[in-house]
Amino acid sequence: MSASVQETTLESTTSMVAVCTTGDLEPGWGEAAWVNGTQVAMYRTESNQFYATSHHCPGSGAKVMARGILGDKTIGGTRVPTIACPLHKEVYRLDTGACLSANGVALPIFAVHNLDDTLWMETGS
Ligand code: FES
Repeated sequence: MSASVQETTLESTTSMVAVCTTGDLEPGWGEAAWVNGTQVAMYRTESNQFYATSHHCPGSGAKVMARGILGDKTIGGTRVPTIACPLHKEVYRLDTGACLSANGVALPIFAVHNLDDTLWMETGS
């Protein structure tokens, strides 16, 4: 009996795209990026964790999220990273996209993988 193993690489996986390097992002800040015709916001927390979300604020549609304010909040005894929209200060979880202010719409998020200091984003397509 033989097993078949199909080797895949990030380059051959169409749902992943290299966006930038870790050095392109300053700790505690976000940057906007153009990925497959969509504006995304890439973030580097002060503790060097990397996240990606839509650059469009779900509250207004304004392309502002990369200019948001990074922070964190304790939820259920766990510190979770957050981003606050710079315009109306709606706060979103970076790990789930859930809106923590009122009953706001969730912020679309994208998984980020750090491989040898290159940040790859899952696009889902
Ligand atoms: S524009 Fe983002 S919460 Fe209003």
